Amino acid sequence: MADKDGIRKDHNYHLDIPMKNEPFTLRGSNSIAWGMKNRFSNIFNPDTNRTVMLAVDHGYFLGPTTGLERIDVTIVPLLPYADTLMCTRGILRSTIPPTFTKGVVLRASGGPSILKELSNEEIAVDIEDAIRLNAAALAVQVFIGGEFETKSIHNLTRLVDMGNRYGIPVLGVTAVGKEMKRDAQYMRLATRICAELGASYVKTYYVPEDFETVTAACPVPIVIAGGKKIPELDALKMAYNAIQQGACGVDMGRNIFQAEAPIAMIQAVRKVIHENMKPEEALKVYQTLKKEKK
Ligand code: 5RP
Repeated sequence: MADKDGIRKDHNYHLDIPMKNEPFTLRGSNSIAWGMKNRFSNIFNPDTNRTVMLAVDHGYFLGPTTGLERIDVTIVPLLPYADTLMCTRGILRSTIPPTFTKGVVLRASGGPSILKELSNEEIAVDIEDAIRLNAAALAVQVFIGGEFETKSIHNLTRLVDMGNRYGIPVLGVTAVGKEMKRDAQYMRLATRICAELGASYVKTYYVPEDFETVTAACPVPIVIAGGKKIPELDALKMAYNAIQQGACGVDMGRNIFQAEAPIAMIQAVRKVIHENMKPEEALKVYQTLKKEKK
């Protein structure tokens, strides 16, 4: 008989409970498909809609930069404290344990080294390989105002089309060239263009003046890069201000892995991002953990 269960007397259909239809509350993401929401939930903590992304993809144009000489030694111990890891497929396959089950944001553009014109990038990953690697998202550099602006935008839109086919979000990374002014006007332009052209979320740099206008004008989540290494308190202040002004997290590299105590630093950053801890308090957390070598 097909419906053997039908003879049981003890079914409970909970007829008095309306079916839940939970909204997906991550900024600008209500209308995306299930697979994309699921991947996003492995990037942004669903409890806070925020993320601490650990960025270690710098080698794709910089080579073994300070702190990333031995990713197995310096970065793998940080993984338990990151919500998400951003890296290249080369590092992922060779060095990141496959038991790492949080989201991986795969660097999907590349080409020129630090010795050449950086904006001259191409798409550097096939969508099939991203799927094989179980990527939670793809990251592509966008050089607004750069020499190869249109080409980098085209990389973004092609990756968005590929990602949409398989439910993989795309992170538009706004790259700031040497000659470009890092101010709110520029960041508004660059982040909005990424969002308009389909990026599921956008990475930018924090600017001290009017950053809230950058987040307000971008309809998808914004995460900030950490940028060059600065004193720990300043990095925590930057993360705090960005969050209070509408960012949904950090995609931080050097200010974590170049800190004197990287494991302590990433835990302090978590406090700021997920618990709204004030930077001065988070610095105390950092100092305590550093002393305890935790
Ligand atoms: C390189 C990147 C990096 O991931 C990004 O800059 C974040 O790292 P950091 O906090 O060190 O700036 O996108 O192009």
